[in-house]
Amino acid sequence: MHIGPHELPNPLFVAPMAGVTDRPFRQLCRRLGAGYAVSEMVTSRRDLWHTLKTSRRANHEGEPGPIAVQIAGTNAAMMAEAAAYNVDRGAQIIDINMGCPAKKVCNKWAGSALMRDEAGALRIIEAVVAACAPQGVPVTLKMRTGWCSAERNALALARAAESAGVVMVTVHGRTREQGYTGAAEYDTVAAVKAALRIPVVANGDIDTPEKASLVLKHTRADALMIGRAAQGRPWIFREIAHFLATGTHLPPPPTREVQAWLTEHLQDHYGLYGEDLGVRSARKHIGWAVRALPGGVAFRAVMNSLASADAQLRAVTTYFEQLADAHELLPSSHGTAANHERLQRQA
Ligand SMILES: Cc1cc2nc3c(=O)[nH]c(=O)nc-3n(C[C@H](O)[C@H](O)[C@H](O)COP(=O)(O)O)c2cc1C
Repeated sequence: MHIGPHELPNPLFVAPMAGVTDRPFRQLCRRLGAGYAVSEMVTSRRDLWHTLKTSRRANHEGEPGPIAVQIAGTNAAMMAEAAAYNVDRGAQIIDINMGCPAKKVCNKWAGSALMRDEAGALRIIEAVVAACAPQGVPVTLKMRTGWCSAERNALALARAAESAGVVMVTVHGRTREQGYTGAAEYDTVAAVKAALRIPVVANGDIDTPEKASLVLKHTRADALMIGRAAQGRPWIFREIAHFLATGTHLPPPPTREVQAWLTEHLQDHYGLYGEDLGVRSARKHIGWAVRALPGGVAFRAVMNSLASADAQLRAVTTYFEQLADAHELLPSSHGTAANHERLQRQA
């Protein structure tokens, strides 16, 4: 699997998720089997580039390449400028966000809202491709199936994007109108894949190895992108890779290994955000990690009241040590062998 000149180790991608897929989380996912990770989106508004938030998002220290930066905006010239700015700062791939209901930029909705105006969307794509071409930086596009069920134009836009020089398209199998409700559909992704020569990535509701296999077969996509299912379970990438390669399930990870991954992730997280913000923003990651585990809900409530990195780390250590004493392997996590066996028993 290639994106332009960049060869990827495998076709399992972490989805860009604002507020989640920061550098520490991307690195963790890559270590645990993801072949590629796109950064959280960066606004095309020049006046915000020097904010701490944007500069943290542009932090790629020690990250394995290729470095992919997603940009969001509504104006072609500003998007081109944002692409060039990020390329100057080390981006090796630029991804255009037409996939998420992004916040208002310049009093207009960006992200998937752009799909409603195909001509405008194409102007942005052409401007970004033109800005990146001199540096040899490939441009990719992330989109939904359309604006609403009556306006499902992913195929037309994907074709136009390919003609304009985009080298890979990701399709989240929902319309903008759906938000995150309902179920992702994969027929549109399959239609886009059948029509394009460039790689197509399927995204939406892939949360188990079985689902990954099903989506691959149905869409014939070149790669899969996984977002929410990796929250608190970043090892899902290697679980899926193993299942696709062998048709069998990996056992759940050892509890002590999960503890070590989480502890390292937290330390990295505090390093990027500093203690105050770091402790607060780490709560969601800890919450996701324990939500399906015994006593996880009660632990989460206590952990949310702790205000120092030391106290947070100590609480996590105590919780996981007790868990490891009772369970050598992680006792409950969706999509693992245990879950699969349960599903098979029910069938
Ligand atoms: C918290 C959150 C933040 C997101 N931020 C972005 C973003 O910055 N850019 C983007 O293209 N998509 C974003 N998305 C959409 C995801 O990349 C993905 O398309 C969507 O979650 C569907 O995949 P999933 O079912 O595997 O989660 C976000 C999703 C979530 C849940």
